[in-house]
Amino acid sequence: MRIIKTSIFSVGAIDWDARLFDRLIPLPDGTSYNAYLIKGSEKIALLDTVDPTKTRVLLHNLSTLGIDKIDYVIAHHGEQDHSGSLPDVLAKYPMAKVVTNPKCKGMLIDLLDIEDDKFVTVEDGETLSLGNKTLQFIYLPWVHWPETMGTYLVEDKILFPCDFFGSHLATSSVFVDDEASVYEPAKRYFAEIMMPFRKQVNSNLEKLSGLEIDIIAPSHGPVHNQPKFIIDAYKDWSSDTVKNEVVLPYVSMHGSTAAMVEYFVDALIKRNIAVRQFELSTVDIGKLAMALVDAATVVIGSPTVLIGAHPLAAYAAFLANALRPKARFASIIGSYGWGSKMVEQLAGMMPNLKVEILDPVLIKGFPKDDGFAALDRLADDVLAKHKEIGIVN
Ligand code: FEO
Repeated sequence: MRIIKTSIFSVGAIDWDARLFDRLIPLPDGTSYNAYLIKGSEKIALLDTVDPTKTRVLLHNLSTLGIDKIDYVIAHHGEQDHSGSLPDVLAKYPMAKVVTNPKCKGMLIDLLDIEDDKFVTVEDGETLSLGNKTLQFIYLPWVHWPETMGTYLVEDKILFPCDFFGSHLATSSVFVDDEASVYEPAKRYFAEIMMPFRKQVNSNLEKLSGLEIDIIAPSHGPVHNQPKFIIDAYKDWSSDTVKNEVVLPYVSMHGSTAAMVEYFVDALIKRNIAVRQFELSTVDIGKLAMALVDAATVVIGSPTVLIGAHPLAAYAAFLANALRPKARFASIIGSYGWGSKMVEQLAGMMPNLKVEILDPVLIKGFPKDDGFAALDRLADDVLAKHKEIGIVN
């Protein structure tokens, strides 16, 4: 249990040892499942619960505070890392009502089998009084599920935005005490969770812009007591602005594609284009996702396996398609032995990317002079396109 302000407590769980989320996303710095308790002069509200693996920690924290009655459990989001302990909390505090929006109510019934009569539903902008403290509910759709909402604590100017502005980062300090160390976990979180909904992120930033916010208390990672830092970062990441960068995920089996990648990276650097190269059999996909947040161009490197793309290159294309980065250009480089449909296959796997495809470079065998010349041509094309959109002087 940690104190946010008088009568406002962080009662969730720090998960130092978590290393994988959704059996997909690496968590190099652990995470936290934040829940907050607000003691009003008349009523007590618990904002969210925790992942079911940490129910014991939440219940212990509530006991430590001597909480023998909870009036409201505010459920911002149906995903189980925040709702998973709800059945246990309701079992311990049977008088509590679950306050949420109609869409989230349906999800909680589907996912956790909560009884219908436990719920009180609220509309966007509705308020709930705890006596001397007022909760205002703000729908925040698609950050990152359709039912997600936040709570604004009016008197204390604290925004509880659920996953929005969160970070997978375990810290003993309840507040951000070093912005530099939070920037990367927050960007990783944005890239993996929020980037596919960049337009909705912008709409929700706009929606929140009228609020006076002293503190942002998200449902993962430390609490922001200098909220401008994370709001400005979100504005940057979700904007349409791209950087003079090429992201180059690649895999090579016998060295031909690796030789092409090495030459191409050098060609880009000679043209003053920043490059982020990722070898796909060892990559941390969170690092790759972060690089995709800003880059103007994505180039995938793949050998040909059984006529098609290497499965790891296909995975990168599938992931990029799902994350919907704001890249403007894409291409493919790689090699083949006797025949290949790799280029068509990879290009067809990225329909969500609103990119212009630059002429790919496909080489038979190990690259030779004409192959290197083709890679120089692609580097020239990338430079010309980056100049065309005004990100290179
Ligand atoms: Fe942290 Fe979407 O749950």
